[in-house]
Amino acid sequence: MGELAYKRVLLKLSGEALAGEKGFGIDTSMVLEIAKSVKTIMEMGVEVAIVVGGGNIFRGRSGENMDRTTADHMGMLATVINALALQTSLENIDVVTRVQTAIEMKEIAEPYIRRRAMRHLEKGRVVIFGAGSGNPYFSTDTAAALRAAEVDADVILLAKKVDGVYDCDPVTNPNAVKFDKLTYLDVLNRDLKVMDSTATSLCKDNKIPIIVFSLENPNNIIKVINGENIGTIVE
Ligand code: GTP
Repeated sequence: MGELAYKRVLLKLSGEALAGEKGFGIDTSMVLEIAKSVKTIMEMGVEVAIVVGGGNIFRGRSGENMDRTTADHMGMLATVINALALQTSLENIDVVTRVQTAIEMKEIAEPYIRRRAMRHLEKGRVVIFGAGSGNPYFSTDTAAALRAAEVDADVILLAKKVDGVYDCDPVTNPNAVKFDKLTYLDVLNRDLKVMDSTATSLCKDNKIPIIVFSLENPNNIIKVINGENIGTIVE
């Protein structure tokens, strides 16, 4: 086996990824497929930290007749539900995990402690970060960028519904063109919405590459680690 391109990765799973075909809630068979791919890359020697979104349960921002802060708090709680579902699936296939939450809820999971998270990773445990960054007005993509910087991840694997970054929305525009490679500034200047600008800037300032790819096939996680050119790389 060749040298691994990435020793430590931060996998960002959108909430929608966990909903599978259903589009809402948690599709346990989909979560299991994702868990199996995570297990495979762990066995290849990659250290894996995961940030999960919560949009399959509640999307901050979208709360009608609700202030943004409350909506974001509800969204953060949704990410913890997803983190626990993912932990269960990983444990069911014998992957050791630890969940750490940015908002303390000690009866449910460890609080986020950076040095402890690093130790778990070094010991070959998957660390799942729940509750985003613990702050309203910050997306889970920004939490992913923040945690990736904190735990010194080599790359962010940004698993989305679409299979990369396009010049316009491929769902509504059949002529949309996919990029293989972009710079952070391209993303920011062209407002490409791969990640929000806060997350993209954080990655730019800390030189963390982002690979955007689709989780329609959970094996894509393995392909990315094997260096296959799927999706779009932003660096
Ligand atoms: P090492 O010290 O590296 O061996 O890590 P460890 O996680 O095994 O240490 P520890 O003995 O502290 O944790 C044992 C179990 O308790 C793990 O499953 C942790 O996730 C869990 N745990 C530790 N702290 C907390 C906490 O504050 N809340 C909850 N709910 N679980 C915790």
